[in-house]
Amino acid sequence: MSHNLLKGKRGIIFGALDENSIAWKTAERVFEEGGSFVLTNAPVAMRMGAINTLAEKTNAQVIPADATSLEDLENLIEKSMEILGGKLDFVLHSIGMSVNVRKGRHYTDLNYDWSQKGWDVSALSFHKTMQTLYKKQAMSEWGSIVALTYMAAQRVFPDYNDMADNKAYLESIARSFGYFFGRDHKVRVNTISQSPTPTTAGKGVKGFDGFIEYADKMSPLGNASADECADYTITLFSDLTKKVTLQNLFHDGGFSNMGVSQLVMDKFVDEE
Ligand code: NAI
Repeated sequence: MSHNLLKGKRGIIFGALDENSIAWKTAERVFEEGGSFVLTNAPVAMRMGAINTLAEKTNAQVIPADATSLEDLENLIEKSMEILGGKLDFVLHSIGMSVNVRKGRHYTDLNYDWSQKGWDVSALSFHKTMQTLYKKQAMSEWGSIVALTYMAAQRVFPDYNDMADNKAYLESIARSFGYFFGRDHKVRVNTISQSPTPTTAGKGVKGFDGFIEYADKMSPLGNASADECADYTITLFSDLTKKVTLQNLFHDGGFSNMGVSQLVMDKFVDEE
């Protein structure tokens, strides 16, 4: 259901790989709410072609950009402002990748070249994106920047591997850059800490089926879906949340504040 919350707003959405992607669902919702945007992803991800289907549905143009390349980011931001006809009101960073996770390297046996690559893609790319936006004065006043993260940044989830460290770094960048963006351009910066979600990135984590089920049974409201994450992001892009900044916002059905739930306890207690 549309409320026209983003009518007249312009932005960039990173990370729509296929229809399961959180960024894909977000693009559909932003479109429904009246926003216009450029879609972007790494050139290698474009080869799958699915993003063009999304672009057609949402009247968006696609500009390939490797989010670790400053040159690509500069081109993306300049062209987006040209295409959309002005400065940007919202940016979604929905990017994550760990080579160690992909190749099944254990956290106690990391390949550091791969760690560095994963950190650049998953965490530093957020700084690079914001620094490029900041230097080009590409954000409108009261604009909103959101990145997606996971609770393994605060608590131990052994199979999340070096992505846990990347997410901790990402959340810190949101606060540190958010200060300057707020002070100098009245732009807010937040991270959304989302429930486990069955996407390409999500399912790549070892033991995913177990921990999505566990999180669901622990959370009083159950896991948050990708569609619900898109809804939450819309609120952060809208003018209804102008003074929310420097926050890591849990969107997880209550999981992050639980100790144990009855459903989980039941698995460990013998029936009388
Ligand atoms: P996804 O696999 O659909 O999206 C990840 C995206 O990152 C892909 O579109 C991929 O092409 C893009 N990407 C990888 N390397 C890139 C590069 N060098 N430059 C530009 N883009 C690049 O998976 P999902 O789950 O939608 O991931 C989106 C975000 O949500 C990620 O930050 C992820 O860590 C986060 N997240 C996911 C959760 C899950 O369980 N799926 C839970 C909490 C957070």
